[in-house]
Amino acid sequence: MSDADREFLIAPSILSADFARLGEEVDQVLAAGADIVHFDVMDNHYVPNLTIGPLVCEALRKHGVSAPIDVHLMVKPVDRLIGDFIAAGASYITFHPEASEHIDRSLQLIRDGGCKAGLVFNPATPLSYLDYVMDKVDMILLMSVNPGFGGQSFLPGTLDKLREARRRIDASGYDIRLEIDGGVKVDNIAEIARAGADTFVAGSAVFHAANASDPNRYDSVLRAFREQLATVKADAR
Ligand code: DX5
Ligand code: ZN
Repeated sequence: MSDADREFLIAPSILSADFARLGEEVDQVLAAGADIVHFDVMDNHYVPNLTIGPLVCEALRKHGVSAPIDVHLMVKPVDRLIGDFIAAGASYITFHPEASEHIDRSLQLIRDGGCKAGLVFNPATPLSYLDYVMDKVDMILLMSVNPGFGGQSFLPGTLDKLREARRRIDASGYDIRLEIDGGVKVDNIAEIARAGADTFVAGSAVFHAANASDPNRYDSVLRAFREQLATVKADAR
């Protein structure tokens, strides 16, 4: 598939949102044009940080959020939380292959629950984990920082890895999204899209936008992302 045909989706990471007013933050970022809510689950074991769990996912659904919720599990073990997030209303559930004892089974558990399944690759994790499961993934997520914290800088080596992941997806013929997570900003999103990504997580770049009292403060950063992505489509035509 060429860049011109690819549908680009923007997935703000609520890790950088104001948790005291999370429902409102999610409403506002979706109203500004975000496509997906990226939901980072950290356990102070697989990664050195602790965040949110299924109760918060369920609370967002009860609040009225109908957009896809993209649950990024940075937890070990993986499988028990899969069931909890299926019940809590997740749309995508992705996990790190090193954190699962039985990767194929974890992927199957997610799909059996009616969710889309994905594998997440740390900067040093090889894509060979995909070799025997391309038919079982709906999403490949490449980390462009080491997981655990928002606000880190994009690791440039991820661009080559994106090109390799894009080649694998195109060769497979399966409908698989290629997501990037970490250090995505207005000034690098176009280059990241050209390397093959179609789904863009952005935390600090979105939620640390100025004017906390302005309900439309996410409009300009979302618009800037779209303008950058439009140049990628235009160049590809
Ligand atoms: C990091 C998380 C990311 C994080 C990205 O482990 O997986 O989703 O929120 O934050 P930024 O966009 O600030 O790098
Ligand atoms: Zn994430």
